[in-house]
Amino acid sequence: MAADPDRYAVFGNPVVHSKSPQIHQWFARQTGQDISYSKQLVEEGQFESAAARFFRSGGKGLNITMPFKLNAFTFADRVTPRAERAGAVNTLARQGDGSILGDNTDGAGMVADITANLGWPLDARRVLVLGAGGAVRGVLQPLLSEGPGRLLIANRTVAKALQLARNFRDLGRIQVCGFEDLAGQQFDLVINGTAASLAGDLPPLPEGLLGDGACCYDMMYAAEPTVFLRWAREQGAQACADGLGMLVGQAAESFFLWRGVRPDTAAVIKLLRQALCRGQVPPVG
Ligand SMILES: NC(=O)c1ccc[n+]([C@@H]2O[C@H](COP(=O)([O-])OP(=O)(O)OC[C@H]3O[C@@H](n4cnc5c(N)ncnc54)[C@H](OP(=O)(O)O)[C@@H]3O)[C@@H](O)[C@H]2O)c1
Repeated sequence: MAADPDRYAVFGNPVVHSKSPQIHQWFARQTGQDISYSKQLVEEGQFESAAARFFRSGGKGLNITMPFKLNAFTFADRVTPRAERAGAVNTLARQGDGSILGDNTDGAGMVADITANLGWPLDARRVLVLGAGGAVRGVLQPLLSEGPGRLLIANRTVAKALQLARNFRDLGRIQVCGFEDLAGQQFDLVINGTAASLAGDLPPLPEGLLGDGACCYDMMYAAEPTVFLRWAREQGAQACADGLGMLVGQAAESFFLWRGVRPDTAAVIKLLRQALCRGQVPPVG
């Protein structure tokens, strides 16, 4: 009799919108892995008991989405250095000894999308990151490890950007400022990590921010270009991309942690983009 497939799931609230089951089934098919992957709505205050039950019953791994990334951080028996830096866990993996490892794959997913899928170099480039929330915190370590020439965080609340710069100062220099201080500066890559796009808003950005050949990346994704990416085109950006590749990239990192194989993300991004454009995938980021 064939063995049951290894079980994985995504926990969140809400979770109905999650594309993770679809993405991981595509990865599994592509790499010949026999897994099952479901989504589970978890009530607030119930994360620890639900996760413990999942692993006790033989589950191999979980993806964690809003609002449980901090719960998962404390639930894990130990966390990877990048999860420690991010202060949040989006992937739990049961180890051979039964202990639970916590990881954060969001940042690695975005950097892999930028460097490998899009082919945009980061080394020695002038990089501007807009926003200083959870998503930005998660991408700083992998960004710094690519050796940008300059890394500046601009945020509405400058104190939050300052705190991030302090937390990461042993890994590299991060400068900070408010949006009003950006006038007269130029960058090779601008990454929008604010939640402004979700409301169709644009942070107040000055003219002339993009240097020759500059690229722009929005962590949010949608069927149509986001307001930030429309602004980028108007400003003469050479290339633009939204965060669909980041979503698939973080999933690929989780899949690698669980299964030890790297799926082809470009093929899955293409499938997901087609589904998004047909209206089969709700836009978020
Ligand atoms: N593609 C993916 O896989 C992926 C994964 C994670 C997140 N994301 C996207 O990343 C973005 C940020 O998420 P998050 O979890 O970091 O959110 P968060 O922790 O709530 O942080 C939100 C950030 O956006 C800023 N902000 C909000 N509204 C703004 C506005 N109108 N103008 C300027 N700044 C504004 C906030 O500034 P203050 O500090 O001043 O409040 C803060 O820096 C969202 O668009 C999310 O969809 C994408």
